[in-house]
Amino acid sequence: MLPSTASLKQTGGRELKRIVFDEQTIARRVRELGQEITVAYPDGELLVLGLLKGSFIFLSDLVRRIERPLQVDFLVAASYGADTISSGNVRLLYDPETELRGKHILLVEDIVDTGKTLNRMVSLLRERAPRSLEICALLHKHLAQHLELEPAFVGFDAPRVFLVGYGLDHAENFRHLPYVASLT
Ligand code: IMP
Ligand code: MG
Repeated sequence: MLPSTASLKQTGGRELKRIVFDEQTIARRVRELGQEITVAYPDGELLVLGLLKGSFIFLSDLVRRIERPLQVDFLVAASYGADTISSGNVRLLYDPETELRGKHILLVEDIVDTGKTLNRMVSLLRERAPRSLEICALLHKHLAQHLELEPAFVGFDAPRVFLVGYGLDHAENFRHLPYVASLT
């Protein structure tokens, strides 16, 4: 069920158009991704590195489906202002304090759009000499002209429209929605 129009009008003036991935569909896929990741890392230390803020719900659901020892840390990058167009400006606001050297790093991203954020993060993380570096993205728009590293784990191919919910925001609103929806 979409929230009532009254509650949506309070959140930045944009309204939801339709649910693109519902709660059950996401939960099923996240469980599968957890299994894929579990078998992909038979040994070594695994550090799941969430790119904030967008990945916070996805990451918290995902790590509970990975059945092997792991550590969790976060990166904070900012690329978008209060707009739906990528500024191309990626700033690092928080750098993980966990040691990355020699570990399997799994970078968790909410959505791959232009790929600028990921490309910047990948070059930065490669400098820290991890044992391996892979990407897990909930959504992939397949728009990026050049990706330094294609995500090894993808939840869903996404339509090329602006999406919100399950961590994704529009001007910081809608992150709490348990599903992914498009905006009007
Ligand atoms: P990119 O650098 O263009 O790939 O965009 C990366 C970031 O922009 C994502 O991690 C999101 O935070 C945000 N973003 C891109 N597309 C969307 C969208 O459709 N909805 C909400 N946020 C998005
Ligand atoms: Mg965002």
